Amino acid sequence: MEKRSAIVVLTGAGISAESGVPTFRGPGGLWEGHRVEEVCTPQALGADPALVHRFYDLRRAALLDVVPNPAHEALARLDREWRGELLIVTQNVDDLHERAGARRLLHMHGELRSALCAACGARMPHPGPLPPGSRCPGCGAAALRPDIVFFGEFPYAMERIEAALAACDLFVSIGTSGAVYPAAGFVAKAAAYGARTLELNLEPSAGSRRFDETRLGPASRLVPEWVEALLQSTQSSPMSR
Ligand code: OAD
Repeated sequence: MEKRSAIVVLTGAGISAESGVPTFRGPGGLWEGHRVEEVCTPQALGADPALVHRFYDLRRAALLDVVPNPAHEALARLDREWRGELLIVTQNVDDLHERAGARRLLHMHGELRSALCAACGARMPHPGPLPPGSRCPGCGAAALRPDIVFFGEFPYAMERIEAALAACDLFVSIGTSGAVYPAAGFVAKAAAYGARTLELNLEPSAGSRRFDETRLGPASRLVPEWVEALLQSTQSSPMSR
């Protein structure tokens, strides 16, 4: 595994948990009594936009109080030092991967610090609160919404992700429960194309049995250990597919 050249890393809420960002399905996963599946839908946005915008305003503001942890930093190191192909696909809408320095990164579920125009489809940086009815600077419609992929909507960059899964030698999943598709299906897809699959998670997940190997523990320990071993092994021998 350690000598392979194309890697896809999938991250979920567990990688940011030790930074203080609550996970969705663990303790503290409820927001004012709502499950995330009840707030993050196009139906909820239509029925109660103030509630949905407030949910994301609070999460966006909370980013100011958190910093990347050693797991984000280890992936940023991998991004800097790995000479093969790498794609970090995150389901997270926080910005901790990029603040740690990761660049070969895709946010498949959108980004808290971004707004989406429901009228023209433009996406734009938006670091502050986003009241319902905010106007799009491009088309002028009062249609800006959080740039988050809601349940029932199509995740971003799926073509690029599918291509990377088909071409990778190693697929690594970090801190995700395997409860939400299509991300939960990436391991099967990568394995079907011949990749080795590794899971790093605090506890066994819904998808653990689909991985060649699962390592259990906190991401802040497991991810730096894995990155260090991977980089060490390729420094001592040439990379090969
Ligand atoms: P979940 O909350 O479903 O799962 C978090 C996973 O992280 C669990 O399997 C935990 O065991 C694990 N975990 C917790 N703390 C950890 C730690 N310190 N180190 C390693 N693992 C840890 O979060 P996701 O799988 O990311 O979608 O949820 C997927 C999607 O569901 C999210 O992207 C979100 C949500 O609805 C949108 O917002 C669109």
